[in-house]
Amino acid sequence: CKLIDVLKCLKQRQIYANSTSYRSLSQRLGEINGKQNSATFHDVIANRKLEAKRSILVQVQSAQSCKELYTYCNAITPVKQMFHYSTGVEPLHFIIVEFSKEADVSNVLSQSTYAESLQIVPVQSLFLWFKAPVKKNKQKVLKAAKLQIENGTFILNEDDVRHSLKEEKSVSNQMLSLYNSIKLNDISTRLRFIVARQIETALSGLFPHVVVYPFGSSVNGFGRMGCDLDLVLRLNENQSTSADSRLVFHSKAITASERSTSQRHMEVIGDLLQLFLPGCSHVRRILQARVPIIKFYQQLADVECDLSMSNMSGVHMSNLLHLMGEFDSRVRPLVFTVRKWAAEVGLTNSHPGRWITNFSLGLMVLAFLQKPGYAPPVLPGLNLLIKSAGPEDTFITEEGINCTFLRNPERMLDFRRLNTDSLQSLLEQFFVHYSNFDFSMKAVCLNEGSPVTKPDHSPLYIVNPLEQGLNVSKNVSMEELERLKMEMRNATWILESQEVKGMNWGVLSLFDGRRKFGMSPAPRQAKLLEVSTLFETESDGERIEFKSGQVEREI
Ligand code: GTP
Ligand code: MG
Repeated sequence: CKLIDVLKCLKQRQIYANSTSYRSLSQRLGEINGKQNSATFHDVIANRKLEAKRSILVQVQSAQSCKELYTYCNAITPVKQMFHYSTGVEPLHFIIVEFSKEADVSNVLSQSTYAESLQIVPVQSLFLWFKAPVKKNKQKVLKAAKLQIENGTFILNEDDVRHSLKEEKSVSNQMLSLYNSIKLNDISTRLRFIVARQIETALSGLFPHVVVYPFGSSVNGFGRMGCDLDLVLRLNENQSTSADSRLVFHSKAITASERSTSQRHMEVIGDLLQLFLPGCSHVRRILQARVPIIKFYQQLADVECDLSMSNMSGVHMSNLLHLMGEFDSRVRPLVFTVRKWAAEVGLTNSHPGRWITNFSLGLMVLAFLQKPGYAPPVLPGLNLLIKSAGPEDTFITEEGINCTFLRNPERMLDFRRLNTDSLQSLLEQFFVHYSNFDFSMKAVCLNEGSPVTKPDHSPLYIVNPLEQGLNVSKNVSMEELERLKMEMRNATWILESQEVKGMNWGVLSLFDGRRKFGMSPAPRQAKLLEVSTLFETESDGERIEFKSGQVEREI
């Protein structure tokens, strides 16, 4: 009761949105009630963006430099917390320094300098390095008593993960443990928002209304360590026009067609990233795509990025997936286990091609959890979420895509927790469900919450929940669908015939299924060779383009 009072008090004073104490208290309350604490996508993103606005990223000599950096920054403006991480085999060390306010970052940046060299072009950036002191620093190094330093490393040790899975007591625990070991951690998430913020900061002089939104698995709650960072860059966001103002900025009008203008803009942005932005390397422009994208590697954050300037439907899709994950605490561990299984048996591949993607697989899991056949379902159908939407949930993109659906899972509490199946049981039912699914006649559909008749002859049809005329798995070939069905049947069989716990039991036996039954390991290499020819397919507005040796997907 006391916790509820404190939460109410924080809420009344409007200080909850950014307050970690509010978050941890309400989390605690959720735990006491045995409930998952739900956060709306909007709040999560807003908090992460604020964190990024209050942060800088500093390269240091080693983890030991933390205290010295803390002392140095703290002398300029109070440091709130610091996070250490390292990348690479010969590790480079970095520290995210978070201050209390956005203005503190400006303060620190105004007291920072550029390297003395004619070879460099000074640019606005949040990425710095901490050089050795010119004179021996007499300043007493502060004790890092109040300092929160978290170690983050992005290198996952597969053996450690497997070992911890072996030690678990049940398959359900294994699934939870897997999820907790490989999901994107706090530092990696912070870093992704700082990468987005770096682009915003760099472009803001020329484009005062620029916003860069991270979307996809970095923000939808289904991201694993090392996943790519999808970004959408908008030059004209949050523009507040004042009708009273008589002074109006002169601006250039867009003369060419929207598409060619967008391509030209992307070309220029690609050049800026490549030539001026610290850490941005391997910039590749894929501008002929229906949705042009720029791919680049941010080496200071060790993350592959895909930047587009298209519509916001990808962000709304991320919101939808996030919402589904918030509905029930079993959703994410189940999706992670299925994706891990698919990667292990070679159904998915980090290169796009004629096989199923993680995104499509995730939608298959969500659709299964809505299944009305066995009562009660874990997740509601999207149509129910649309019906329950309020005015604050109404979003229609510039292109007319209706992205209206209920955004706050707390408003559907009645629906939640009616199904009490264990994770293990859900995993088994998932494989049985799709082993018996009529892929020749039926399409997977999250809108209805049950399969619908397939509108065309694509081998696998998964209705795009936000643009229902599109099939998100249009790329999947008949051969790949057959492999998917076969692996689903194998998985059903492996889970059903679990012997006494051996070396690799539970989900580990699923991952090792091929080896266990004397089958050769998944043909990943063969898959890569398969796409080394040049061809292109186009349908329903979703186009896949394969270039020799390198594969790019267009949405
Ligand atoms: P990983 O990057 O594999 O971890 O997952 P992801 O969900 O980020 O997938 P990806 O990077 O391939 O795509 C980013 C986002 O674009 C997804 O989350 C979707 O919102 C959207 N998206 C991905 N694939 C498709 C597709 O085939 N069709 C449509 N309409 N949207 C897609
Ligand atoms: Mg992604």
